[in-house]
Amino acid sequence: MELQLILLAVLSFLSHANGADYELVVVDEDIFSSCPGAGPGTLDIHGLLDMSEFSTSMDSDGVTVSGNTTMVWDIELEDRVTFSVNLLYLERGTWKPTMFSLFSNDFCKVMYEKKQLWYKVWTQHISNDIQDKCINSPGTKIILNTYLVKLTSSISGPLREGHYKANIAFRAFDSYGVERPTRICYEILGDIFKVTK
Ligand SMILES: *[C@@H]1O[C@H](CO)[C@@H](O)[C@H](O)[C@H]1NC(C)=O
Repeated sequence: MELQLILLAVLSFLSHANGADYELVVVDEDIFSSCPGAGPGTLDIHGLLDMSEFSTSMDSDGVTVSGNTTMVWDIELEDRVTFSVNLLYLERGTWKPTMFSLFSNDFCKVMYEKKQLWYKVWTQHISNDIQDKCINSPGTKIILNTYLVKLTSSISGPLREGHYKANIAFRAFDSYGVERPTRICYEILGDIFKVTK
């Protein structure tokens, strides 16, 4: 569970486990990559949000996020949106699943739940209340406070160093349960290193 927190944190930070420090370095400066091999109808982060007013800056404390994003995903307000995060580990050239994954079959109901990962790294920093719009209202701005993405976490087991990616997907269903023609999939790639003290 804690490992997801690390990967989703959009930057580079230290965590302590069993006396060791680990550092996550996000591979892509743009942070969000497209999902490889995604089928027709699959859009990346830019199919979900217009990021042109969003920016990140990195320093030794981590990554500072500022600006706004605008919803662009063409779905209806009453649609049910599912959300999944899967953490994968690169082993001998192949992405292998890890035990870390999460799924919500109604993201809009839980988007402001305080104990959730996305609340900590995202929704708590939204300054306009979008609870009634969720991510289902094209044209609506998500106004972000400027914030430092910094998470301290206690990891109960030692981490394996190497290449990781979090695969994040949203799907939308109308009131008959029929899926909308487009879905969202994007990835955050990062490397986890053990830091020598
Ligand atoms: C974000 O949106 C608010 C409200 O529309 C605006 O005042 C602000 O300038 C925007 N910030 C950026 C970086 O575009």
